[in-house]
Amino acid sequence: MEKKLYSISAIYSNPNDIIRAAAAVRDAGYKKFDIHTPYPIHGLDGAMGLKETKLGFVTLAAAIIGAAGMISFASWVAVVDYPQVIGGKPYWSWPAFVPVTYEIAVLLAVLGTVGAMIAFFFKFPNISHPLHDTPYMKKVSADKFGVSIQADDGKFNEKVVRELLKNTGGEVDAVYYSEEFLTFKPQMFDPKFIFLLVGIALATSAGGYLYWNKVLYLPPFDWMMQQPKVKPQTMSEFYADGFGMRLPVAGTVARGFIPYPYALGAKADSVGKFLVNPLLPTKAALDLGKKKFFTYCSPCHGNFGKGDSRMNGQFPNPPTLHSDKVRTWPDGAIFHTITVGQNVMPSYQYQISREERWAIVNYIRTLQRAYNAKESDLQ
Ligand code: HEC
Repeated sequence: MEKKLYSISAIYSNPNDIIRAAAAVRDAGYKKFDIHTPYPIHGLDGAMGLKETKLGFVTLAAAIIGAAGMISFASWVAVVDYPQVIGGKPYWSWPAFVPVTYEIAVLLAVLGTVGAMIAFFFKFPNISHPLHDTPYMKKVSADKFGVSIQADDGKFNEKVVRELLKNTGGEVDAVYYSEEFLTFKPQMFDPKFIFLLVGIALATSAGGYLYWNKVLYLPPFDWMMQQPKVKPQTMSEFYADGFGMRLPVAGTVARGFIPYPYALGAKADSVGKFLVNPLLPTKAALDLGKKKFFTYCSPCHGNFGKGDSRMNGQFPNPPTLHSDKVRTWPDGAIFHTITVGQNVMPSYQYQISREERWAIVNYIRTLQRAYNAKESDLQ
């Protein structure tokens, strides 16, 4: 195998010598040289004349791309693709995007930095270096300090370099390599490697299978599942009738709960007469009604109840709430519609409390009055 000169190296036995040698090599004007020490030495980068790494720019660029990408994506989702009024805020509510933008910026910065280090700075996939496995490297990774000036430096002249290093008090030597050693041979298809990969895949799947299907069902991990309790829709021998689910005791009502007496099928016009609005249209009640109307009703009915839905055809458009029909309906009819729904409009009994439903009714009355103001309202 033909050997080529890679570098002239020198070995020193204490850190002061290596700092002096580094400064001498720097002052002699060499660019392609490196210092190897078994541990970090203060002041060495200054002595070598190293400039700050460019890696920081990669990190900055990756962070900017991450932040800009996430802001644009979040804005597109919130404004263009799926606009939703949430809590009465504008579509483009940027404070909500801050956490995720920050996270993605950090994530991309980290991945970009590691990726750039491996791909550009370490020259992956080339995984060998002429200094690997040399007597020089063995010494400088144990207890010696070394400098190595590369033969491809513009100013390189073997005699001059040897002379320079000798003058700094180093033990001078030469490092050779064969070209073949540097060319990268992929070892991906090595049967040993493939065997290892398949082995790892099998071990992780088997481990995962055992963990999720067996270990989790062993005591004590199954204690949560083994509680003495009756699950919905199961039988229980504890009760004489065998039913696990119990009906409330006849004639009782749960605390704080007022049962709604009218069934889904009941007509708004007929039951509306029997329901009395318990709320006065105070400022607080109207504010509450407005808030709840914006949250629950406005996606379909529009912000002002004119039936201008924001569902983009994903749900049938409702009629306006300013029709003569709804304006002359008793409050109770609107309340009933919210409570049990009407045709395709679903029931909001469980999302919106009783008081909030009445507050919404009051707010709708305000909207109707505003759109059909009388001469006397304007004075
Ligand atoms: C998912 C969309 C949707 C939401 C949300 C919604 N509605 Fe409706 N609403 C409709 C549709 C559609 C109709 C028409 C139903 C029909 O065909 O009878 C309707 C009908 C009504 C009617 C009867 C109008 C009429 O002329 O018959 C009232 C009153 C009403 N909604 C009030 C409300 C209130 C108050 C809310 C908020 C609590 C609300 N709706 C939330 C879709 C919705």
